[in-house]
Amino acid sequence: MLVFDHVDFYYKKDQPILHNMSFTIQPGEFVAIVGANGCGKSTIARLMNGLLLPNQGQVRYHDWVTLNPKDTHSIHEKIGYIFQSPEDQFITTTVLDEVLFGLENIRVARQDMQSRVVHALQAVDMLDYAQAMPHQLSGGQMQRVAIAAIIAMRPEVIIFDEATSMLDPQAREQVLSIMRDLHLQGMTIIHVTHHMDEVLSAQRVILIDQGRIAYDGDAVDFFDTVQVSDYQLTAPFAVRLHHKLELIRPVRADWKEMIRSKWPTN
Ligand SMILES: Nc1ncnc2c1ncn2[C@@H]1O[C@H](COP(=O)(O)OP(=O)(O)OP(=O)(O)O)[C@@H](O)[C@H]1O
Ligand SMILES: [Mg+2]
Repeated sequence: MLVFDHVDFYYKKDQPILHNMSFTIQPGEFVAIVGANGCGKSTIARLMNGLLLPNQGQVRYHDWVTLNPKDTHSIHEKIGYIFQSPEDQFITTTVLDEVLFGLENIRVARQDMQSRVVHALQAVDMLDYAQAMPHQLSGGQMQRVAIAAIIAMRPEVIIFDEATSMLDPQAREQVLSIMRDLHLQGMTIIHVTHHMDEVLSAQRVILIDQGRIAYDGDAVDFFDTVQVSDYQLTAPFAVRLHHKLELIRPVRADWKEMIRSKWPTN
């Protein structure tokens, strides 16, 4: 269980970013975190795995507290983080080394490494590229390697912070499909995104507005409950079409009435 317990956060003392924020994410949930630019999504994501620490309140995972230095290693091991820009995440010179690097960091036994690397690269369909170098990969492939490096460490939670936003539609769909697979296997997925159509993959949506939670609930109800344009977001095409058709229906009925009255059939 991942808990935000009355969290306040600021980068500069006189500029509060998050205000008394509380929520709980259960194991195995698929949660989308959405909101306008600068509302605090990445700050929340970084507080989740201890990259940032709260100024007030606590962030906890299981019995570990991010503020507690002796817990940070366990939290980093169990909560993986995928960043927006695939290039910035590559630390080593080949795909294979990239996945191995994370395993060495958490001191996985040598004899377990190979099977973990193969399984992780297979999960993102990148096993054929094990010897490839970063510059030989597309942005989408790099992002998949970054995901493999995290999967190999066997985390319980993966945070994707706008991880699809720099990818073309096909690569985006591949990353989304990996997220859905990982979720089906029981992993907790936290997807920070601007793309409202991606929200439909999640079960739960947390909408952030200026450092506060404006909606926390079912993803299906989200677009019926919230006027997303009030938060500088654009509803997915399917939802806009649905709302437009609902508006048009009574108009169309009137239009038919009008025809009937002007050109009576009998
Ligand atoms: N390192 C930093 N130092 C000072 N202020 C920061 C820092 N990082 C972010 N901020 C500010 O904190 C606020 C929240 O930023 P954050 O990156 O969490 O927003 P976001 O919702 O992820 O935005 P985006 O959609 O652009 O990724 C913004 O006003 C931002 O300018
Ligand atoms: Mg961000």
